[in-house]
Amino acid sequence: MTIELGILGAHVPSICHRENVPDFQQKMVAQMDELAGTIKDLKPDAIVLVSCHWISTFHHYVDASPVHKGVLTAFECPDIISDVSYHYPGDQELGEALVMAGKHARLPVIAVNDPTYVWDYGTVVPLRYFVPNEDIPVVNLSITMAASLDETFKWGQEIGKVLNASDKRIVFVFSGALAHNLVRGRHHMPTISEQALDKQFIDYLMNKDMESAREMLPQYARVAGVEGGGRHLAMMLGALEGDYKPSFLGYAQSSGSGNALMTFEPEKTKETV
Ligand SMILES: [Fe+2]
Repeated sequence: MTIELGILGAHVPSICHRENVPDFQQKMVAQMDELAGTIKDLKPDAIVLVSCHWISTFHHYVDASPVHKGVLTAFECPDIISDVSYHYPGDQELGEALVMAGKHARLPVIAVNDPTYVWDYGTVVPLRYFVPNEDIPVVNLSITMAASLDETFKWGQEIGKVLNASDKRIVFVFSGALAHNLVRGRHHMPTISEQALDKQFIDYLMNKDMESAREMLPQYARVAGVEGGGRHLAMMLGALEGDYKPSFLGYAQSSGSGNALMTFEPEKTKETV
């Protein structure tokens, strides 16, 4: 069918366990819980998720495992994210279709199907909120350091074409922050300059001015230290080409990072309801 919903979402470590969520992230968590209801109602066939914490060096990886099962202790912050079990179904067919599309586009895309591979927290944390019953198949994707923003945009376009040509209904999650020049102290907001850049990028998205968002991204990513070099955003702009209705749900800080929660619904869904 199509990408039924795109979500730009957060994965800050302090929301992994609900009992640790600080006051200034409570609203974001409540909104993520609401989105879980939206996703449940959509009854998607699969979730595709790109994570800024699955950082590959040369190749774009697609986790096409039929089952994702493991226990995560995050090497970056084992005091905060420890002993987190997950067990989600995968979608090998969809994952391999994405890999084929990438190869046909002459992109260095490789399938991963390895029961010993352990998910990163940029994948696990949002899924704990969006799919709490672990009952929707997941295909997750890396961000790739050797890939430019333009290449990542192109990869996003290829993924979008496959998803929109599929007979499956997909929710696509882009897991990463906006401004991301981290500082010690979880309560710190991004600087006012970084917030201004985040706001401008969000405004372009809200005005459906994707061309300006794409034009802004390289310099914005450098100055504001956008997470993953902005690759999750480049992939989003590539995958969500077309007519999507944007919604801005909120923005919360974490150690100087700016974390936006936004959704993108295909306009045609409304027409066919
Ligand atoms: Fe992160």
